[in-house]
Amino acid sequence: MSHKFPKNFLWGASISAHQTEGAYKSDGKGLTVQDTRPRDNHEIADFTVASDHYHHYKEDIQLLAELGVQSFRFSISWARIFPSGSGEVNPSGIEHYQNVIDECLRHNIQPMITLNHFDLPQALEDIGGWSNRETVNAFKNYAETVFKAYGSQVKYWLTINEPNVMLLVDKKILGKQIPLKEKYQQFHHLMIAEKYAFKLCHELVENGQIGPVPNISLVYPATSKPLDNQAALYFNSVRNWAYLDFSCFGRYNTVFKDYLNQKEVSITFAAEDKNLMENHFPDFIAMNFYTTMTVEKPTDKNNMSEGISDQQSEDIMDWGFYKGVTNPYLKKNQFNWTIDPEGLKTTLQTLYDRYHLPIIITENGLGAKDQLTEEGKIHDPYRIDYIKQHLEQCLNAIEAGVDLFGYSPWSAIDLISVHEGISKRYGFIYADRTEKDLKQLKRYKKDSFFWYQKLIQTNEIPL
Ligand code: BG6
Repeated sequence: MSHKFPKNFLWGASISAHQTEGAYKSDGKGLTVQDTRPRDNHEIADFTVASDHYHHYKEDIQLLAELGVQSFRFSISWARIFPSGSGEVNPSGIEHYQNVIDECLRHNIQPMITLNHFDLPQALEDIGGWSNRETVNAFKNYAETVFKAYGSQVKYWLTINEPNVMLLVDKKILGKQIPLKEKYQQFHHLMIAEKYAFKLCHELVENGQIGPVPNISLVYPATSKPLDNQAALYFNSVRNWAYLDFSCFGRYNTVFKDYLNQKEVSITFAAEDKNLMENHFPDFIAMNFYTTMTVEKPTDKNNMSEGISDQQSEDIMDWGFYKGVTNPYLKKNQFNWTIDPEGLKTTLQTLYDRYHLPIIITENGLGAKDQLTEEGKIHDPYRIDYIKQHLEQCLNAIEAGVDLFGYSPWSAIDLISVHEGISKRYGFIYADRTEKDLKQLKRYKKDSFFWYQKLIQTNEIPL
């Protein structure tokens, strides 16, 4: 096996706004659902300061330039641009991201912008959030505003981060459980909003390219029992394909439709939806990948609560359809997430075979409790090992014919994890703070920083 990546392979690193920026009320920013969501653990850091990337962006981008990345995936906080989700534009918000983009370009780093990453403006949540069609209109207006503001400089765009995980793990990510019928109306609205983003990007951004950004975890059947295979079929559909089939084929997936019928969920379409669905498509697929999942057909309703309690673990159950189980062949990380590098190759092949679109990995990485030594070092061989194993499988997938054009792991700098605060770190760059003590938020380069730097320089996995 060759260790070299194709010429022009795009090396990047990723973050999101609310997990890094902090400055949650500065310069006219409105509140978002991430600022207000009920938290079941107040011992962990919130997003008010995060890694203070809002004030450290120059230093952070300078460090990314030293790392050698060619692209930087970040999200725009919608509530900085429109503090109330719609209405008056906030000029300071526009200016902030203009500065970030300029700084990237000054260092020859291409910005790759996610339009929205879990942080819906609270003002829109107050009118029903994604259940209300008005949120689609507000998103359309927001997308149009940022494409017009930045489209001459930014060519890579991503739509809405992981709508699948957001809806399936609603309680953890949004702080509230969405009733099932509402959940799939939200699905429809999120996917229609995405269609508007495809359309507007192609109309307004010269040479612009845009992709959906779901979290894809291939689902395995626990055994060769036919009913376990059915369970995997349904969960694959509900978790993965329903979203991408909508984005890439413009239709509701049949297995998903059956799932909705059995759940007695019906979706309200607006007059323009059919046309939007069937005429606007992505240029590539951005995929976030951490793990795979394994399910069986549930046989015992006792001791199981419905839903998913953690997006990446086996703790899921949908009575009548599927129930997550531990895969005995795979190891787990410190936070109980299953690690499956070979599953990445299979996932990439499945995705490419199904959609025939170029793919970029926009998240992949290892959350761990890193230690800063007295000498200012962070020894994180476990992260290097995780990324190395996954990149080997990327090479295998490329060799097997998959058009994988880039890798932008999670995360560029340490950020506040969705459920585990700052103790669960993902970055190549350490941000010195604890859950409670902000310290100076000084940046340190981890061992993985130097490893990834070498990889980018040589375009091959260091031995
Ligand atoms: C992805 C999200 O699903 O998982 C990120 O897009 C998130 O925002 C990442 O940080 C890791 O999850 P967690 O819970 O460890 O932060």
